[in-house]
Amino acid sequence: MALDHRGTQQTQQGVVFASGERWNQERRFILEIFKKFGVGRSKFEDQIETESKCLIEEIAKLKGEQFDPNHVLVNAVSNVIVSVIFGKRYEYSDERFKYFLDLGTQQAKNSITNFVFIFVPVIAHLPFGKQIHTGLTDVALKLTDFVSEIIKNHKRDLDTESHRDLIDAYLSELRFNENGSSGKLSMLNEFNLTVTIKQMFIAGTDTTALTLRWAMLYMALNPTIQKNVHDEIDEAVGRNRLPKLADKPNLQYTQAVLLEIQRMASISRLGVPHGCTKTTTVRGVTIPEGFIVVSNLWAVHRDPDLWPEPWKFKPERFLDDNGQVVNRDELIPFSTGRRICLGESLARMELYIFFTHLMHQFRIEGSNWKGDTVSIVDQGRNPNDYKIRAIHRD
Ligand code: HEM
Repeated sequence: MALDHRGTQQTQQGVVFASGERWNQERRFILEIFKKFGVGRSKFEDQIETESKCLIEEIAKLKGEQFDPNHVLVNAVSNVIVSVIFGKRYEYSDERFKYFLDLGTQQAKNSITNFVFIFVPVIAHLPFGKQIHTGLTDVALKLTDFVSEIIKNHKRDLDTESHRDLIDAYLSELRFNENGSSGKLSMLNEFNLTVTIKQMFIAGTDTTALTLRWAMLYMALNPTIQKNVHDEIDEAVGRNRLPKLADKPNLQYTQAVLLEIQRMASISRLGVPHGCTKTTTVRGVTIPEGFIVVSNLWAVHRDPDLWPEPWKFKPERFLDDNGQVVNRDELIPFSTGRRICLGESLARMELYIFFTHLMHQFRIEGSNWKGDTVSIVDQGRNPNDYKIRAIHRD
C-alpha cells in the first residue's frame, strides 16, 4: 500500500506485516529480548502487579459510582507493554500519553479498513476512498511521530551494553550491524523498529484491555459465577494479600472462568490475514499461491459441535470431573501455527493478575449493557459501551 514513508501499514513492515526472512529475524529478535527481560515469565509478575495496584486505586476512588471501565483498563494494560518497549510508565493523567493512547485505539479500530486498502489499493484513488485513506494516514503518521521522538531520545543516551527496553536493544543491534558484524539479524533497520514498536503497542494494549472489558461485563451479567470466583479466591488467598501467580494451582475455577471469557469474547474474530506462500491443498480445497487466507477464530469458538450451547457463559466447559482446569485445543484466541500471537504468555499473565486482583478487591454490579451488537468494522470485537459499579469487598 502506497503511504508516505512514515506511514504505518506498508506491507512487509514491522513484525506483524513482515513475511519470510524479515519476519523471521524480527520475531526471533523480539522473543530473545522478551526472554532477556523475563517478559511473560514469573519475574515479570512485580511489574504487572504495580500496574494492577494503580488500577485498583483508580477504581476505588469512584466509591461504587457507575463508570465505563474502558479508559482505566486501557491505561493499566498499556503501561505494561510500554514498560517493555519504552522502559517507563506513564501517570493516568499524563496528557501526552492520553493523546498516544487515543491514537493507538484509533489505529486499532482502523485495522480492518487498513487491510481493505492494502488488498485493494486502487480504492485509495477513488473519490470516497481518498478521503478515508487520508484519515487513516493521518492517524498512522501521528503515531509514527510520537514513536520517532521516543526513539530519537533513546539514541541520545544509548548504552549499547546496558538495555533499558526493547528500543535500546534494537538500536544496539543496529549499531552492531553498522560495524559490519552480525548477519543473522541483518534485515533489522530503524524504519522497521518504528513500525514494530507501534504494532507492539497496539497489539499489546487493545487486545488485553478488550478481554478485561468483556471480563468485567460477564461478571456483572453472571453474579453467581462471580460469587464462585470470590469464594475460591478468598479461600485460596485470604483477604490480607492480593493473589499471586503461585496461587494458580488453587484457583482452578477462576482459571476456567478466564478461559470461558476468552472463548465468549473472541476479541480477535478474524486474526491477522495471511498470504499463501505456495499452492496448498487442505481437506480437498486448493488454495493458490498468493491468495489471502483469513482464519475465522470466532466461528471456531461458536461451533455447537465443539461447545454445546455456545452462546451460554459456562466455565464448567473447562473443568474435568475433579474440578481441575482443562486447556482445550479448540480454544484459539491467540490463533495457532507459526504466527501465533507473539505476546501470548505476557497476555495470559496479565489477564490472570488483573482479573484475580480485580475480583479480590471488587464486586462488579449493574451493567446497563444493551446486548451483543458488535461493530463489524472493528478489528477487535468490542462490546457495546456499558457502565458498571465496582463495590469494594471489604
Ligand atoms: C488477550 C490478549 C491477546 C490476544 C487475544 C491476541 C491475539 C492475537 C492474534 C489472534 C494474533 C494473530 C496471529 C496470526 O497471525 O495468526 C496476534 C498476533 C500478534 N500479537 Fe497478540 N494477542 C493478545 C495480546 C498480545 C500482547 C500483550 C502482545 C504484545 C507483546 C501481542 C503481540 C502480538 C504480535 C507482535 C503479533 C504478530 C505476530 C506475528 O505475526 O508473528 N499480542 N495476537
